[in-house]
Amino acid sequence: MTYTRIAQLRTATLFAQHTQSLGITLDFDAELLPAPASPLAQPCSVSPRHAPLANRFCVLPMEGWDATTDGKPTELVTRRWQRFGQSGAKLIWGGEAVAVRPDGRANPRQLVINQSNRPDLARLRESLIRAHAARCNTDDLFIGLQLTHSGRFCRPTDNQRPAPQILYAHPLLNRRFGLPDNHPVMTDSEIEQLIADYVKAAVLAQEAGFQFVDLKHCHGYLGHEFLSAVDRPGKYGGSFANRTRFLREIVSGIRAAAPGLEIGVRLSAFDFIPFHPSPEPSSLALKGVGFPDHWPSTSGYPYAFGGDGTGTGIDLTEPHQFLDLLEDLGIRLVNITAGSPYYNPHIQRPALFPPSDGYQPPEDPLVGVARQIDVTAKLKAKHPNLLLVGSGYSYLQEWLPNVAQNVIRTGKADFVGLGRMVLTYPELCADVLEGKTLQRKRICRTFSDCTTAPRKGLVSGCYPLDEFYKQRPEAEQLKHLQPDSGTESSPLE
Ligand SMILES: Cc1cc2nc3c(=O)[nH]c(=O)nc-3n(C[C@H](O)[C@H](O)[C@H](O)COP(=O)(O)O)c2cc1C
Repeated sequence: MTYTRIAQLRTATLFAQHTQSLGITLDFDAELLPAPASPLAQPCSVSPRHAPLANRFCVLPMEGWDATTDGKPTELVTRRWQRFGQSGAKLIWGGEAVAVRPDGRANPRQLVINQSNRPDLARLRESLIRAHAARCNTDDLFIGLQLTHSGRFCRPTDNQRPAPQILYAHPLLNRRFGLPDNHPVMTDSEIEQLIADYVKAAVLAQEAGFQFVDLKHCHGYLGHEFLSAVDRPGKYGGSFANRTRFLREIVSGIRAAAPGLEIGVRLSAFDFIPFHPSPEPSSLALKGVGFPDHWPSTSGYPYAFGGDGTGTGIDLTEPHQFLDLLEDLGIRLVNITAGSPYYNPHIQRPALFPPSDGYQPPEDPLVGVARQIDVTAKLKAKHPNLLLVGSGYSYLQEWLPNVAQNVIRTGKADFVGLGRMVLTYPELCADVLEGKTLQRKRICRTFSDCTTAPRKGLVSGCYPLDEFYKQRPEAEQLKHLQPDSGTESSPLE
C-alpha cells in the first residue's frame, strides 16, 4: 500500500483534492494569520486561579525512556522539557508519563514521583519555565504532571521482563502478551491502595509547583483499562458507575489533600480491537499491513471503550457520559486521544512509517488524523464548558498550522496538542504565531524512530532530524536494527 506524501501536496488545492479523494473532512484555513489576529493566539482561561493562557498550543506528554533507574530526570529528560518550554506553547500537558509508584512503570527508565524525587521534578519544571522565558520573555505557562500506572504494560525493572497488573482477563490481549487466562487480576483492596498512592503523588506534584495533574485514562494503561472492565465483578467493574469509581475516588482524595490543585484527564475517547500485521497477505501490496484481530464471538466486541461493538467503529455514548461525569466532578481540562500504542498504534499516532514492531498503515494516516479531529469536535459540541485538547496532528506536517487554525477558529477544540512534532521542531508553535515560514527540514515525517528506539532498549528522541540525537551512538545502532516479527510486546510509549 502506498500513500501520497504530504510534502507533495504543495498547494491548498492539492491538499483539498487529496482529502476529498480519501472521503474525509479535514477543514483548513488556506491563509494563516500571525498573532495577535490568529485564532491560535486567542487567550483562553483554564483556571480561576491563573491568568488566561496566551495561545492555543499544548505540548502533549512525551516520554523518552531516559530517566535514572530510580525515576529521577537525567540531562536528556531536562533537554526535552526545556525544548517543550522553548516551543512557545502555553499549556504543558504532563511533560510525560510519571509513575505513581515504581512497580507501575512501563519501563525501567520512566520517571517516578515520590518524596525523594520531588525536588528533582520541581527543578525539571523550573528548567522548562526558564527555557520558555528565554525564548518568549514570559513565564505564563500552565504546567501539569501526568500521573500514571501502566497496568497491563508494566515493565518496571527490565525491558524484557513484563510484570503486568491487570483488571480482567482480556481474551485477545492476554493471549497476545503471553498471559494465561487465569493470570491474577488486581484485587479491590490493591486498587484502594493504588488510589491512595495517586493522591500522595498529586500532593507531591503540587508541592513541586505543578498547577495540575493529569489522571491518565488512555492508551491501554490502567486508568483506561478500568473503562473497558465490563465483565470484572465487584465495585470496580461492570456498570459505568463502577468502571469510573477509580477516577472518582482519586478525585475526591485529591480535593481533600491538595486543595487548589487543578485536575485534568487524558482520555482515549475511542478504541478499536487490536491490530496485527497481515501474516499471509493475498497480494504483495498487503504485506505487513495492519489487520484487525479476529473476534471469535457472535456478540459484539465489548472491550473497546467508545467502540460500537464491531471492533473498528465508534459509539460516543459512553465517552459523552464520561465527559458529563468530569463536568460533575468539576474537571474542565480534558485531553482527547485514542486507542493504544501497544495494539492499534495507527489510530493513536498516525504515521507513514511504522515502528519496528508495528504494521504498515491500513489506511492513509490522514484518515486517522481526521478521525481524532472529528471525535474531539463531536465531544466539544456536546460539552462546550469543557476545555478540550486535541491530539494526533503531527502527521499533517506542512498543513498542521492551517488545520490547527481552522480547528480553533471553528471551535472544534480549545487547544491543539503536539506530540512528535515537538521532538523534531519545538519552535513550530512560536514560528506559526510569529507568522514565520515553516522550517521544512525540521518537520516530523513520522519515521517512528522515536518509538522504535525504546522498543530496542534505546533512549527515545528524533534520530532522523534532531542533530543532537543524530550524533549519538544510538543513531548508528538504530540503523542496523532488524524489524521485529510484529508480535513482540515491548514498551511503545
Ligand atoms: C516517543 C513518544 C512518547 C510518548 N509518550 C507519551 C506519554 O508519556 N504520555 C502520553 O499520554 N502519551 C505519550 N505519547 C503519545 C503522544 O502524546 C501523542 O498522543 C501522539 O504522539 C500523537 O500525537 P502527534 O501526532 O502530535 O505525535 C508518546 C508518543 C511518542 C511518539
